[in-house]
Amino acid sequence: MSYPKTYRTVRRSAKPYLLTVEITNETLPESLDPDDVVIRIHAASVNYRDVAMLHEGGYPLSCNDREIQGKYCAAEIIVVGDAVKIFTLGDRVTVTPNLSFLTGEENDVESCALGSETAGAMREYAVYEEKYLVKLPLHLSWEEAATITGVDITAWVSLDGLKDIPKNATALLQGTGGVSVMFLLLCLESGIRPITTCRPCVPI
Ligand SMILES: NC(=O)c1ccc[n+]([C@@H]2O[C@H](COP(=O)([O-])OP(=O)(O)OC[C@H]3O[C@@H](n4cnc5c(N)ncnc54)[C@H](OP(=O)(O)O)[C@@H]3O)[C@@H](O)[C@H]2O)c1
Repeated sequence: MSYPKTYRTVRRSAKPYLLTVEITNETLPESLDPDDVVIRIHAASVNYRDVAMLHEGGYPLSCNDREIQGKYCAAEIIVVGDAVKIFTLGDRVTVTPNLSFLTGEENDVESCALGSETAGAMREYAVYEEKYLVKLPLHLSWEEAATITGVDITAWVSLDGLKDIPKNATALLQGTGGVSVMFLLLCLESGIRPITTCRPCVPI
């Protein structure tokens, strides 16, 4: 099993960022640990957070200088280490967006979010221990799948994973942005009556 030696990334430029990113060429490790997989990233989604980080003081959480941008991606497994159990070549996967939170039950752990506190998703290839990966649905395009761990999970969590939804429930959705529209789709599929607000267009 082989993989490229080098790959391209999108990194925030050196401070002051002045709203710029740059393409860098980087090197993949020559050998893998037994639990590692190499992924080829086909799509990464862009969020407001990626823009906020390009402004000095624009992002309220911790954020490394010159980090690789992006938190959410869709990728294909191209190499598996000797002890990898869950995944196989060709599997479509995403990377858990915060490497410190894998079960939802971690307490008092230091956050390790992609794109801010560790290398992000905007790169051609990456190496991860298999525990950080999750399989993607087969029916979604790479681009669609690259949004799942962002807007989709935010909407899902805000509906508490659709647990204990009362009969004839109604949900009020603010606006027509990414999270709201995903929330709307979940409402329609699960029988919740949605009411969506929309700000009036301002004529130019
Ligand atoms: N995207 C993610 O992956 C993600 C993950 C975690 C948390 N979040 C959070 O979820 C929220 C929505 O994110 P998003 O990605 O859906 O953003 P978005 O696509 O930019 O949508 C922003 C929404 O806010 C509404 N809005 C903006 N200014 C408003 C105002 N002055 N009054 C009323 N409504 C206003 C817009 O309404 P109109 O449609 O009427 O313009 C739109 O629905 C943000 O707080 C974000 O930080 C997002």
